[in-house]
Amino acid sequence: MADPKCVIVRDPANGREAELPVREGTLGLAVIEVRDLPSRLGYFTYDPGFVSTASCRSAITYIDGDKGVLLYRGYPIEQLAEHSSFLETAYLLIHGELPRPVELTRFTEDIRREALIHETLRKFFEGFHHDAHPMAMMVGVVGSLSAFYHGELDIDDPAQRYISAVRLLAKMPTIAAACYRHSVGLPFVYPRADLDYSENFLNMMFSVPSLQYGEDAQWYLDPVATRTLDLLFLLHADHEQNASTSTVRLASSTGANPYACIAAGIAALWGPAHGGANEAVLEMLQEIGRPERIPRFIARAKDRNDPFRLMGFGHRVYKNYDPRAQIIRKACHAVLERFSPADPLFELAMRLEEIALNDAYFIERRLYPNVDFYSGIIYRALNIPVNMFTVMFAIARTAGWVAHWLELKADPGQRIGRPRQLYVGAPRRDYLPPAAR
Ligand code: SDX
Repeated sequence: MADPKCVIVRDPANGREAELPVREGTLGLAVIEVRDLPSRLGYFTYDPGFVSTASCRSAITYIDGDKGVLLYRGYPIEQLAEHSSFLETAYLLIHGELPRPVELTRFTEDIRREALIHETLRKFFEGFHHDAHPMAMMVGVVGSLSAFYHGELDIDDPAQRYISAVRLLAKMPTIAAACYRHSVGLPFVYPRADLDYSENFLNMMFSVPSLQYGEDAQWYLDPVATRTLDLLFLLHADHEQNASTSTVRLASSTGANPYACIAAGIAALWGPAHGGANEAVLEMLQEIGRPERIPRFIARAKDRNDPFRLMGFGHRVYKNYDPRAQIIRKACHAVLERFSPADPLFELAMRLEEIALNDAYFIERRLYPNVDFYSGIIYRALNIPVNMFTVMFAIARTAGWVAHWLELKADPGQRIGRPRQLYVGAPRRDYLPPAAR
């Protein structure tokens, strides 16, 4: 039996060597297990932003950034986008296999059964001003779900873990729509058993009970709207160890309950460098306004002294086109044709992409449009307010977050996450009385 592959790290200062095991995965780079490095050579590893650090073993999603490949449980995102649905994909992410029809029916029923929120939870929204950012409401309300299921938080019970995962997936659209309804002063709309996941969300967002419908009666249940939203949810469902998923995993490793862990993920997703980018892209396009103003924004994006970044461009892993961005750009055409034929921002976005992709700065740094670059164009065409864009991302990413939470909780080897540091502060020193400072 060949020795398992190792690498030898040698410290030239003292000739000490450490033989570190290499772990191979199914796809992608192998990893060097460094946990013994401190005891063998007296060093920590240092990797700010975890650019080259694998934090866990996972079987859920694989990305090849150089080739622009994204696989959910081995299935290419392009095939799932064409043939699957968000809920079927959520099942795949959670269980590891595509569901048989009876399994999908049962899963869909589980979700339907849990879509309502406790009537008391609705009172939480009254504590927010009408102009509160919906992501602020999402963090607070999702985290407070822990208070409604405190008797069912036994995270060591797989059956209870599954119920919690289903509850989160089921209630996110209801809570998200309630955030919007609160912000516009409309009554909350309950989920309906006769609508699917994406139809229900749009109905809870835009249904105005008791009003006589005009010629746009129930535009939000048009298949172009509901199918395109379902596609966007599917494309945003998971993405390996991104910042918000890593946050969920770190919180989960302490044994925190799933509702608190997902609330932590929502908070991390909010940042403009991550899920908040879709909102920032729309604001950027609106600020650019006209094609003739693009060059000055490209120049700003390239200027090291200017904090401005081309939002929706670049990615830590993709150094090629984000496959999701390509699928979303195609989907824009059908939605705009149906709802917003002459949206100038779509033309502007495509022109901006064309100019950037032909600019040496972006080419040298392998910066391409990412998932956030075009998604806002579709959300806008569906009348979803810009400040709800990251909420849309959070609804979808809940599928990935709960899948990673379940994977981590089922791993007998999982330990509390606790990174180390390179200390650069003051050396040991004695307390100085005020008179001596
Ligand atoms: C998401 O991780 C995931 O998987 C995330 C996500 C998911 O599904 O979970 O895919 C979702 O978060 C997509 C990314 C959304 N964010 C944005 O669109 C914000 C704009 N993008 C940048 O902030 C940036 O590209 C990041 C944050 C996405 C990636 O940052 P990195 O990996 O730390 O890259 P970097 O900052 O080291 O950039 C490398 C170089 C730098 O130039 P130099 O110092 O080498 O001269 O590229 C430049 C950067 O200045 N650069 C950009 C740029 N992105 C990188 N320059 C201008 N505009 C940009 N957008």
